[in-house]
Amino acid sequence: MGERIVFGGSTSQSLAREVAEEISAKIGELTMKQFPDGERYLCVDVDVKGKDCVVIQSTSRPQDENIMELLQILDTLKENEAGKITVVVPYFGYGRQDKCFKSGENLTSKTISKHIELNCDEFYSINLHKKHILDFFKIPARELDASPILGEYFKTLELEAPVVIGPDNGAERIAAGVADVLKCPYDYLEKKRLGPGSVEMKPKKIDVADKDVILVDDIIDTGGTMVEAMKMLLAQGAANILIGTIHPVLTGNIISRLFANGAADVVATNTINSQISYLTVSSLIAEAL
Ligand code: R5P
Repeated sequence: MGERIVFGGSTSQSLAREVAEEISAKIGELTMKQFPDGERYLCVDVDVKGKDCVVIQSTSRPQDENIMELLQILDTLKENEAGKITVVVPYFGYGRQDKCFKSGENLTSKTISKHIELNCDEFYSINLHKKHILDFFKIPARELDASPILGEYFKTLELEAPVVIGPDNGAERIAAGVADVLKCPYDYLEKKRLGPGSVEMKPKKIDVADKDVILVDDIIDTGGTMVEAMKMLLAQGAANILIGTIHPVLTGNIISRLFANGAADVVATNTINSQISYLTVSSLIAEAL
């Protein structure tokens, strides 16, 4: 394989450096700045002609700025005749807008996909909110699964007979990935309406009484989902709740709220940089590349 250059956008610079090191590639320097009126300037500071390039950029908050920056990088690489261009978007912002509910609505995740693929040859993301986002791309597009990375972390804690629970049906595949590493049971919380204004969330199959529960989800945003799930599980007798997420979106002061509501541990990967991004996805990306 010829020389490869890895570029990290504003959101993923340290991750890009880790990946570059792991695949023995050069890191590509970029100049990025903003004019006083808010318009963006971007310059690719290395010669990319004929060279394969990898661009790593999460489209997390501020989403629109980070998307624009990604599009600027890709377009500039193409204009400067780069070889194969691979895009890695560890956290794909707007992924929760994955379908239209009425005609006339913008399908934002598709709008973004269409613009990304204009100037790249292959696309990777990590635990997309919905897998069908891959179908929006006409270029090869793959999803990587970081749930084993959460699993490896929880394994180091040597918990006795833990169970892994997702707060809803959609989180079952993350729970399965974590449980596979720990070789323990997994489940998800099912919502049952008990009467007007009264809802119960209970694991579909597992009894959590006296168990260490590892509660996992793809995203923690406002934390409302996790707080509700944790309250239910504690009321059902769970001994300890340890929380893991792939993408720490973290809107507001949610980490202290999670601990205040009884979480014994809260960890995330570095698809988004945050105060709980202890686990790196660099090897997952490096292996895929
Ligand atoms: C929803 O389907 C997602 O998987 C997450 O459960 C959700 O985005 C978390 O949001 P919040 O932290 O605001 O409850």
